[in-house]
Amino acid sequence: MIHAVVGAQYGDEGKGKMVDYFAGQADMVIRYQGGGNAGHTIVNEYGKFALHLVPSGIFHEGTMCVIGTGVVVHPMNLVRELKMLRDAGIPAQNLVISERAHLVLPYHIWQDEYEEQIRSRKVGTTKQGIGPAYQDKAGRFGLQIGEMRDVQHFRERLTAAWELKLRKMPGLAEVAGSFDEMWDELMAAREVLLPLVQDTLPLIRDAVRGGKHVLLEGQLGVMRDLDWGVYPFVTSSNPIAGAVAVGAGVPPTAIGRITGITKAYTTAVGEGPFPTQLEDEIGRWLQEKGGEYGATTGRPRACGWLDAAALRYGAWLNGYTELALMKLDVLSGLSEVRICTGYELNGQQHAWPLPAWQYEHVTPIYETLPGWREDISDCRHFDDLPENARRFVERVEALTEVKIRYISVGPRREQTIERT
Ligand code: GDP
Ligand code: IMO
Ligand code: MG
Repeated sequence: MIHAVVGAQYGDEGKGKMVDYFAGQADMVIRYQGGGNAGHTIVNEYGKFALHLVPSGIFHEGTMCVIGTGVVVHPMNLVRELKMLRDAGIPAQNLVISERAHLVLPYHIWQDEYEEQIRSRKVGTTKQGIGPAYQDKAGRFGLQIGEMRDVQHFRERLTAAWELKLRKMPGLAEVAGSFDEMWDELMAAREVLLPLVQDTLPLIRDAVRGGKHVLLEGQLGVMRDLDWGVYPFVTSSNPIAGAVAVGAGVPPTAIGRITGITKAYTTAVGEGPFPTQLEDEIGRWLQEKGGEYGATTGRPRACGWLDAAALRYGAWLNGYTELALMKLDVLSGLSEVRICTGYELNGQQHAWPLPAWQYEHVTPIYETLPGWREDISDCRHFDDLPENARRFVERVEALTEVKIRYISVGPRREQTIERT
């Protein structure tokens, strides 16, 4: 059965925690899009980790981890991440990389920085070269990781790509270092990665045909989807579940379960509209209590109320079969909590997010619910939760029309309530 785990907000919802949680029962975990812009935090018996490229199933020895075709891979960063894991005592043996995954090259990182500088309004990217790598892929200037197998072929292709970049961006050579430096770094990374690079399709096909539990790990979330997010303040791939088929290489009809991951409030890093953002005491309180600082860039995350209208939008786009409501423990201590149910713009009401140029002018419509004071981080059953916390959960279910099957009350794997 194919089970996708997707971000329902602006990223950082807690996908890493839930993939690690589900991975104990899974045979395979596949990343299907994104790249090193991901920062997926996992807290388990080995410690605390922020994974960027390696799938969050890597802590389970029997679980095969696949970096899928739709992912863009910075080879040197992947080598560093593998070393970090092995230094922490995680063997990270069961990892394979699709030969068709595209490379993020050092000049993409520089280009990411440069494009941010020349924009009239910044996107606020993670500066991991993600946009430029996907641009090159779509523009047919990219290189697939499998091309590294044949050194002579790879050198010819890389030389051509580099020369083209220099023609497009003449200042590149001074800031991005020399071709030879890049080449040496890539050849060193090649030694480590080449044994992992393969045609992943037979592996995935056999797993799906054999009825194995295959998890698909999304990067980022609906609101930063290239097509459906707050364009242009989005990433350059599609986090929504529709991308699973393309990025992993599975037929769309095989996807049987889709878990949307949402916090009990909303956070965002980067620029662009965020209607329920709180620029007051409560916003700062959520940021501190929730430890809302980016796992990749360390940037503080803007915080605000839960946006059920955005969740409902994501429910349509993704077809969630269930939701996981994360960080409910962070809301403990508020006298009241709010949920956004829609928006108003020029006297008109809207039930779903609008394109960004309009969305930045909407006023959220809120419902207010009573809060709760109790620490809930030790609750393991729905009935253990204070009544007002249960009412909050049930109200989110009613507004989104999706069952909340998991409630997370802390960063650790076991701090999870499963409802039947
Ligand atoms: P991801 O990118 O979706 O994997 O999410 P991140 O790892 O970037 O951000 C989620 C943060 O919240 C991490 O620091 C997690 O350790 C933490 N976290 C996850 N679930 C919970 C929870 O239920 N309660 C609390 N307090 N923290 C959580
Ligand atoms: P995970 O997988 C939160 C945001 C950036 C910026 C926009 C584009 O941990 O949820 P990019 O570098 O992709 O070109 O940046 O997307 N962004 C994320 N925000 N979590 C992430 O990943 C993100 N990856 C990118 O802040 O607004
Ligand atoms: Mg993250």
